[in-house]
Amino acid sequence: MGKDKLKRFEENKSFECLHQPEFSDVFNGDCNMKGNWNTMQFKNNNPVVLELGCGRGEYTVELARRFPYKNFIGVDIKGARMWRGAKTVTEESIPNAAFLRCRIEFAQSAFDCDEVSEIWITFPDPQMKKSSKRLTSSYFLERYRKFLRDEGVVHLKTDSRFLHLYTLELIKHNKLELIEANDDIYGTGRADALLSVKTRYESEFLSQGMKITYLSFKLRKAGKLTEPEWNPEDL
Ligand SMILES: C[S@@+](CC[C@H](N)C(=O)[O-])C[C@H]1O[C@@H](n2cnc3c(N)ncnc32)[C@H](O)[C@@H]1O
Repeated sequence: MGKDKLKRFEENKSFECLHQPEFSDVFNGDCNMKGNWNTMQFKNNNPVVLELGCGRGEYTVELARRFPYKNFIGVDIKGARMWRGAKTVTEESIPNAAFLRCRIEFAQSAFDCDEVSEIWITFPDPQMKKSSKRLTSSYFLERYRKFLRDEGVVHLKTDSRFLHLYTLELIKHNKLELIEANDDIYGTGRADALLSVKTRYESEFLSQGMKITYLSFKLRKAGKLTEPEWNPEDL
């Protein structure tokens, strides 16, 4: 392992905004923050918003700056990446941003029923081969329902036309309420305060001239979620 990575892992231990539960805690049971993010971390009662697969945490940090009356938590498994966001939050004393190092599959061990109001998924790997690995698949949505409040909003921002169309199909198939879908947020002037934040991956895709898409929908608690019959070759 490189020296820089080791240094970041060491510094990560000192950040009060970064939580790194043991794998055994999240795998076998609950971690100490479950149900306690607002009382223990943010010391207020504001809505909690997650960014899943936050990488360096650009979205988490910038949304926290722009929307001080919401609490933002970036979730990722890569500690050396999250170091960037946690360092900025610490240096700038941003009170409404935090990070959790955890596999998204086990996030229900860190968040209680209804503890989360909204979820952002920013530039995830589209996982073209296996639908259950996609962060907007029914497999993951079933997990999010354990901690997202009823009709909580899920936002997806991606460069992947494949993932955008797959998710639209899944929303339709499960009769979820689509709030908005846009297949070129910069080309259509839709990139406002909420959507104009650029992550590392987004900046790279934009520099290659790729279109950035966005959609949001409400995830209800009731009813079973299933995968759409969808053939990507129809694209
Ligand atoms: C393509 S990167 C995007 C990072 C960031 N959102 C951006 O736009 O720059 C995907 C991120 O998701 C994280 N990730 C993917 N699957 C994950 C999982 N199951 N649990 C936790 N993190 C995951 C990876 O570690 C990586 O940082």
